[in-house]
Amino acid sequence: MGPGPSSVSPGVLAAMSEPPIGYLDPELFELLDEIRDGLRKLFRTTNKFTVPLTGTGMAGMEACLANCVADGDRVVVVSAGYFGDRIAELAKRLGAVVDVVHGEWGEAVDPAVLRAELERGAPPVLVAAVHAETSTGVRQDLAPLASTAHEFGALFLADMVTSLGGIPVNLDNWEIDVAYSAVQKCVGTPPGLAPVTVTDAVLESVQQRGLPRANWFSDFKLLGNYYDVPHMYHHTVPVNNYKALQIALAEAFEEGLARRFDRHQAASAALIEGLEEFDIRPLAAPEIRLPTLNAVVLPSGVDDALVRTNLLVHHGIEIGGGLGKLKGKIWRIGTMGYSADLNNVERLLAALKSELHR
Ligand SMILES: Cc1ncc(COP(=O)(O)O)c(C=O)c1O
Repeated sequence: MGPGPSSVSPGVLAAMSEPPIGYLDPELFELLDEIRDGLRKLFRTTNKFTVPLTGTGMAGMEACLANCVADGDRVVVVSAGYFGDRIAELAKRLGAVVDVVHGEWGEAVDPAVLRAELERGAPPVLVAAVHAETSTGVRQDLAPLASTAHEFGALFLADMVTSLGGIPVNLDNWEIDVAYSAVQKCVGTPPGLAPVTVTDAVLESVQQRGLPRANWFSDFKLLGNYYDVPHMYHHTVPVNNYKALQIALAEAFEEGLARRFDRHQAASAALIEGLEEFDIRPLAAPEIRLPTLNAVVLPSGVDDALVRTNLLVHHGIEIGGGLGKLKGKIWRIGTMGYSADLNNVERLLAALKSELHR
């Protein structure tokens, strides 16, 4: 119940231990087609280039930026947390001129502040934001940010690492041009894949601009030649992670997305209610609070590291500490994917009771 990886179902676990098949096996491309359709359903997009990129969420972040941003491009990042700041850091490494629209950690950013930033300076090539900020437990509404970015002629990139599969995501409706996620949080497999989705228009502009410049591994054009016909070798893809993702997606659609989102909401609500007994309260206001990652403020007198260590050692339960400026001030408790379960919440609350009164 940390900030990820979350637990996985027995079916997903079994898929990880099947014999690996080859990266050009026709069976694998059938599997990939099914996975790619499933990811389109999760993202709610018709984007053809929707793929399970090899690597974790960071690989997704880096690939999306490297394909969209060149030396000297202006990039504006909306950031109210650790992962927003990371996007800015990566864009800088790619040579972009980066402006950050900062928000308070624990709050969402007002689209008017983005507009004010876009009104000054050179036209940006890209605006980026995090949908579900894992460092603060805040959900940022993306549609108003995306429409503001488009008014100024910029592409809009979204980080959906802690939202995909756990809360509603509507990529096409929100007019998001590029997005990445990760499978080890709300999608329900072990780490190793980063779902990425890109519009045709972005792919065209990527090719016209000859991007990415220095990144071979994450070149969307080369990757497209593997995932789609002519299915040319690119790299040895993690076939068992694909098998696990196939099962996880099938399980998600069998459950139904609406029920799945309700399950995350119910687990989070039970957790927040149960924590009140210990005077532990959420960092974010209810209307922007994520049900997937519960950032809760530690009351004074609680030994952060000791309690988390004891939970792990004595109860086999992991919860996360704060990141960046919230280190030592909050806990980050995941109710994500297979872990978003009322029994888990009860177990954690009972374990906390014994540790806090130890
Ligand atoms: C919002 C967000 N973006 C990006 C990442 C990076 O993902 P990964 O650790 O899978 O590389 C994380 C990881 O927690 C995250 O929460």
